[in-house]
Amino acid sequence: MSAKPPRYASWTAGKLPLPELLEIKKRGEKIVMVTAYDAPSGRLADAAGVDMILVGDSSGMVVHGRESTVPVTMDEILLMTQWVVRGAKRPLVVADMPFGSYEVSDEQAVANAVRLVKEGGADAVKLERGGTTVSRVRAIADAGIAVMGHVGLTPQTATVLGGFKAQGRTADRAQTVIDEALALEAAGCFAIVLEAVPAAVARAATQALRIPTIGIGAGGDTDGQVLVWHDMLGYYEGHAPRFVKRYADLGDVITEALGRYAEEVRSGAFPEEQHTYAMPEEELKSFETGITADSATDPTK
Ligand code: KIV
Repeated sequence: MSAKPPRYASWTAGKLPLPELLEIKKRGEKIVMVTAYDAPSGRLADAAGVDMILVGDSSGMVVHGRESTVPVTMDEILLMTQWVVRGAKRPLVVADMPFGSYEVSDEQAVANAVRLVKEGGADAVKLERGGTTVSRVRAIADAGIAVMGHVGLTPQTATVLGGFKAQGRTADRAQTVIDEALALEAAGCFAIVLEAVPAAVARAATQALRIPTIGIGAGGDTDGQVLVWHDMLGYYEGHAPRFVKRYADLGDVITEALGRYAEEVRSGAFPEEQHTYAMPEEELKSFETGITADSATDPTK
């Protein structure tokens, strides 16, 4: 077994143990989370030392080019979770529960959470909002599944919130964000995403909660950060929110590479000898002789 890395209080050979998130918070260290939607990105996030991967329904926008996350289906999240799990061994993989997969009843929420864990291979699931979601979280946690909350800007209900806008910007709304987070913690969440809320609100929530907070557009005082893969790597055509920092410009790298490929195909510069299969000299001779003989005996050839 590999040596115990100093930052972990307990250690299993593969997966980051879920209780370690709490230990990281207690030590005042930061939890690193990123979204991923397929096996290579899961593998790369693992290699980079990311703690948690979110198979987010943001895929609906950044991967599938939709206008919102609302149309994302259970089947899509299930498939992407299976792909990510194949690539990511150490990070905890959290599958987002898509809109419509938990709104109807606690039973529906538990059934779909079970599918994401059992068929998808997820380590945990994530649900958006407070309100009725609190009851869903309790039911899922009672079923023995690790569950994460998500308050502030909740993209699945962006229409009701008046769009993709920062939340908790009045004293009343700020208190609502904190109350929702506390209710989700009491219902059994192991961590909560705080999206697009003022830093002061995220700080207050982080202090009020025992469990870790993971911020996105919530300032630097949360227990961890999450960013969307395509936004942070510059692999998305649309307009990224102001809280995104671009760590790479993969879109430019890919466009440039594809441009060179197109040029070389058109000019004949690609493929070269090294990209081409040869055959043994003897076989080639016999093959070419065969073609000539065939054409000589069969005038239709
Ligand atoms: O779907 C997603 O990627 C998310 C993050 C923005 C937290 O929910």
